Amino acid sequence: MFTTTLTYDSYEPATEGLREALTSTGNGYICTRGAAEWEDPGASHYPGTYTHSGFNRETTIVAGRAVLNEDLVNLPNWLVLKLRVEDGEPFRLAGTADVLEYRHEYDLATATVSRFVRFRDPAGRETSLTSRRFVSMSDRHWAGIEWTITPENWSGRLEVITALDGRVTNWGVARYQELEGRHLDPVVPRTFGPEVIGLKVRTRQSQIHVGQAARTRVLDLDGQPVNVARELYQMEDYIHQTISFSATEGEPIRVEKMVALYNSRDHAMSEPLTTAGTVASRLPTFAEAFTRHQRAWSELWERCGVEVGDDEVQLRLNLHIAHILQVCSRHTAELDAGAPARGLNGEAYRGHIFWDELFIYPFLNYRLPEVTRSLLMYRCRRLDEARAAAADAGYRGAMYPWQSGSDGTEETQVVHLNPRNGQWEPDLSHNQRHVNAAICYNIWQYYQATGDIDFLSRFGAEVLLEITRFWASLATFNADRGRWEINGVMGPDEFHEKYPGSDEEGLRNNAYTNVMVAWLAHTAGQVLAALPVRRRRRLWDSIGLTEGELEHWAELARLMYIPFHEDENGDAVISQFEGYEDLEELDWAAYRSKYGNIQRLDRILRAEGDTPDRYKLAKQADTLMLFYVFSDTQLAEILGRLGYGYEPDAARRNIGYYESRTTHGSTLSYIVHAHVLARFDPDRSWEMFRTALDSDLNDVQGGTTAEGIHLGVMAGTLDLIQRGYLGTEGNGELLRFTPRGVQKLAGQSMTMRFRETVLKIAIDHERLSVSRVDDSPTLIWIAVEDSIQEARPAQAVEFTLQS
Ligand code: BGC
Repeated sequence: MFTTTLTYDSYEPATEGLREALTSTGNGYICTRGAAEWEDPGASHYPGTYTHSGFNRETTIVAGRAVLNEDLVNLPNWLVLKLRVEDGEPFRLAGTADVLEYRHEYDLATATVSRFVRFRDPAGRETSLTSRRFVSMSDRHWAGIEWTITPENWSGRLEVITALDGRVTNWGVARYQELEGRHLDPVVPRTFGPEVIGLKVRTRQSQIHVGQAARTRVLDLDGQPVNVARELYQMEDYIHQTISFSATEGEPIRVEKMVALYNSRDHAMSEPLTTAGTVASRLPTFAEAFTRHQRAWSELWERCGVEVGDDEVQLRLNLHIAHILQVCSRHTAELDAGAPARGLNGEAYRGHIFWDELFIYPFLNYRLPEVTRSLLMYRCRRLDEARAAAADAGYRGAMYPWQSGSDGTEETQVVHLNPRNGQWEPDLSHNQRHVNAAICYNIWQYYQATGDIDFLSRFGAEVLLEITRFWASLATFNADRGRWEINGVMGPDEFHEKYPGSDEEGLRNNAYTNVMVAWLAHTAGQVLAALPVRRRRRLWDSIGLTEGELEHWAELARLMYIPFHEDENGDAVISQFEGYEDLEELDWAAYRSKYGNIQRLDRILRAEGDTPDRYKLAKQADTLMLFYVFSDTQLAEILGRLGYGYEPDAARRNIGYYESRTTHGSTLSYIVHAHVLARFDPDRSWEMFRTALDSDLNDVQGGTTAEGIHLGVMAGTLDLIQRGYLGTEGNGELLRFTPRGVQKLAGQSMTMRFRETVLKIAIDHERLSVSRVDDSPTLIWIAVEDSIQEARPAQAVEFTLQS
């Protein structure tokens, strides 16, 4: 069953920010928060619009120190549409009238935001207003707002103010408000005939020109133009038209604001404002544009829908799919775009690209692989920058930044504000070099799912080999141990930046990092072997690879050091990093009772003058990441190659140790824990999965979602179904399923793309069936446990599941 609507039926100023983030309208090119058109930015409302790679750098002086930050720029507000009844104040939800009825709805099937409001003004006039708005999934530069206004108990004059507002700044995240938020300079406002207003602005440093144009029409219910008077007002960074007309009691009137959005990075245009103006003049009606939009979404759902037999879960999964597609759609595939951790509907993390790709791509790989390919290209295009970063730090190969923006330089802030004590504290998180392992893992996974040898040989392999080379030059040999080590880095757990009291940044031998490097050092050889001979030779020459390097890599695959220590029962667990066992235990009960929510223990401890570095605690899954990225079989193979044993209960033992020491200060952590638990504790896993499902919808971190959705978690919940519970693993021509927690999965179906084939997967309590619905000549096999069957075009294979 397809649950499609999110409904809020009262106006709550305190949670409006969250609802605005959750009800955004976007198409993978541009995305706008679900703010009401008539509300100005303020304490409760933040009408932000963002586009991929729309970055700008500005410097702020913080405590005498110049701090440079790159932000995803809040673009001019194209929403502005205000309603004035007779000579009253323009309507707002708070203060200008009595709100008699209010509803805010979000149609997940088409990412369309609607509001219905009925209000009584101080003169006793009652008016109802229905608003619908979308950003077109079919035509990426189009957007539309439709209003239906009905004077309920009066006749008289109505005024609609339709504007494009370039006076916006970035101030959506309270923590960043001391930092420079002005990113736009005015260029010019202008009109295109009587109906179309236009505005052009430019980002101050990156010089991206942004052009917007809006055509506003007033129509009767038959779609016939109503007689209106228009008055224009314009400033260098703002333009509006006031449109006035008479309205009759009980007779609905429609207003359509059709908008064209361009910037100077777009294709097939001359100059963004001229193009926007021309396009806006030609735009079809709202209804026609909306039909095209609906069609594009329904095709996307056919590809990307994941059906489960549980309404509540379904609603949340649908919400997540709707958001993923607003950031990563076919339109994205034509841009130079990365996957921003917080989507395109808020300013948290400044729109930067992190390792969260690792959680996002598995969903896309099997549905919209062309989109993953283009997102991976974002990394490939920044290879030279990563090479320069490695060289500057004294290493070989390529070192990608922890946070990436426009050109691939390191964008991680050097200081961050602790909201608990108002102090600016040093930020060492750029030492999370593990992002470099994630990029390679993503390239390899994409290749496994698609068999796209063209991408691998032209782009992916070079990145992967250069990153391997970087790790190899970072690793040092410890002769006493007879093993290779990596020191001075951080793992995914951001609470541990260094050893307590040490002046040196980073930690020794983060297990996750070291195992990833061992995996990569081995996989690099497989990548080379997969390349066509001539390409392999050319690449070998162009990056100056040597036999000696390959031997070194092979040694890393056999001799990386992995630290272990004993848990409370004397059983071996993987140490998060070397020396972890010497840290102090935290008095968890005391902190819970003192602070309640301790997800951000780092801020709490620092505000107390202490540091999380001292304790055995973690913001998020770190060691457990190993059981997330690798199956038991793969881990046994990697650790076996390294000469460490892998016992069948390793996952259970490690999660037993780390779960009680993890605060889930990053919601990504729930995904990882749920995934690991799926192996042996389906009920507990499902609980974690449900927490992850609720994390944005219910804003479990208390305020973060309003600043942008968590794309990794959203995609991660879908991947939990796909990889965690269905146990999907693509390897060569073989697609394996290892279903776990089958009871919970019953009634599930989805479509997957695997190596150019299209597969419809369905699972109930007893059976898993795979119907192949393409007619490509590609040969593939499906495996469930010990049974392997060839999946032929237009045929189905079925497997009986062991309960
Ligand atoms: C997490 C990181 C993540 C980042 C962006 C942080 O809170 O600790 O792992 O990459 O958020 O989502």
